[in-house]
Amino acid sequence: MKLLFIVGSMRKTSFNKELAHKAQELIGDRAEVSYLHYADIPFMNQDLEKEVPETIQRVRDEVKAADGIWIFTPEYNGMIPGVEKNLLDWLSRPLVPGNFASGTAVAGKPVTVSGVGGRNKTKGSRGQLFTLLKYIRMDLMEEPSCGFQLAPDSMKTDVWKMTPEQVEELNFQVRAFLDFVAEKMKY
Ligand SMILES: Cc1cc2nc3c(=O)[nH]c(=O)nc-3n(C[C@H](O)[C@H](O)[C@H](O)COP(=O)(O)O)c2cc1C
Repeated sequence: MKLLFIVGSMRKTSFNKELAHKAQELIGDRAEVSYLHYADIPFMNQDLEKEVPETIQRVRDEVKAADGIWIFTPEYNGMIPGVEKNLLDWLSRPLVPGNFASGTAVAGKPVTVSGVGGRNKTKGSRGQLFTLLKYIRMDLMEEPSCGFQLAPDSMKTDVWKMTPEQVEELNFQVRAFLDFVAEKMKY
């Protein structure tokens, strides 16, 4: 099984990236995990769609090759970060420019969401992401979806140590998503 992880933060020491690494560690050898690098994609501009940029083709190919997608999202002002929305807007577009019957890279693709942030435990951004992922017709596993709060001094120290309970919660989502994707791969 091939899983593609998307981290909605460009920060070098992103806590969401750390969360993704922890999920990868918990998955172990039960799936092949890779990370989508998308810092180089342009802002959505329909003028660019006429001749799909190479970077967009690359991210589409990586998404298409995956059996499942796991998005790790921060929360910015109660919403998903702009970089994440920009990526998903690109991925929502038809594979053949202007031909809406040609399908997209994401339609029907199994997906799950987790996030770490402030007091709200990314409830706002994950909720928004659910709406968006359904809108672009991804196959969303809505529950379980882990949302964690950083430790009070994490932003100052740049350190977030997950509690054993948080790890167990994440592990529960790992197991659920592996089962969810495996089930979809039968068809
Ligand atoms: C523009 C901006 C807005 C933010 N708004 C929120 C917010 O609404 N809720 C929240 O929990 N954290 C908010 N934060 C703090 C982020 O949750 C925190 O920086 C987190 O560590 C970002 O994830 P990362 O470590 O993966 O980059 C905001 C940060 C930025 C830069």
